[in-house]
Amino acid sequence: MENKIVYLNGDYIPLNEAKVSVLDRGFLFGDGVYEVIPAYSGHLFHFQDHLQRLENSLDGIRLANPHSREQWLEILIPLLNPQFDQYIYLQVTRGVATKRDHAFPENIEATVFAMCSNIIPFAGLNHGVKAISLDDSRWQFCNIKAITLLGNILHRQEAIDNGCAEALLVKDGYVVEGAASNVFAVIDDVLITPAKSNSILPGITRDVILDIARKNDIPCREDNISFAAIQTASEIWVTSSTREIIPVVELDSKLVGDGKPGSVWHIVNHLFQAYKKSLL
Ligand code: PDD
Repeated sequence: MENKIVYLNGDYIPLNEAKVSVLDRGFLFGDGVYEVIPAYSGHLFHFQDHLQRLENSLDGIRLANPHSREQWLEILIPLLNPQFDQYIYLQVTRGVATKRDHAFPENIEATVFAMCSNIIPFAGLNHGVKAISLDDSRWQFCNIKAITLLGNILHRQEAIDNGCAEALLVKDGYVVEGAASNVFAVIDDVLITPAKSNSILPGITRDVILDIARKNDIPCREDNISFAAIQTASEIWVTSSTREIIPVVELDSKLVGDGKPGSVWHIVNHLFQAYKKSLL
């Protein structure tokens, strides 16, 4: 196991020494939330937006934020190596209770863990990937970045078992997002992504893409995408902090457009990469 330095409850320690109690509510109940924050050449990308989403997730599970934004920054900076493009994984659980009880325990401290990993450029970026559609079997609060990811991982694994990189999740006849990504489609030359709701995680990458599209006069809107409509899309993308903007070139074994990353993807991906560089 890679023995990098990680942060756990106030200490910087080697990864293989980082241990939490079996009574931690994260371990017993999945009672916690997390964030994934990219850092390019040591610069945290949209740090305030990620921290705002962390605050929203903590509010969503009624857990007090153990740190101010300044403290979070102080905690995370020492984990970064500016020689690499990396991402921070941070997790806050409700902490270690004295016994297993579903009800919130009183007067315990949250468990705070953070580690940094290098971003490995995603192999499918330039050629595109295959996706499968699946019925969304997750819970009702997908806007909370909860560590309870069993639904997501089962969907992602089903995609992989079918030779696909991602599952597009369909709820009440509408494509909402991917198992670990947001979704965009180009339909009748307009870039569309579902509006924010408790059916999707409000992706930071998603917001940046919408902003870039609007500033560059690329026709776009936030709107529902029916399962029937996505089958007519000329382009489909899935987006996330660690994989960025991935073109989907095949959905349910049918080609999307001409089966190659589309022209709008080329433009927006180029603008996205330029935007990342402009922040360094
Ligand atoms: N996941 N939707 C879901 C369900 C996700 O898990 C993610 C990201 C996104 C995209 O959000 P963002 O652009 O802020 O990364 C959307 C992260 C990367 C993960 O779980 O590792």
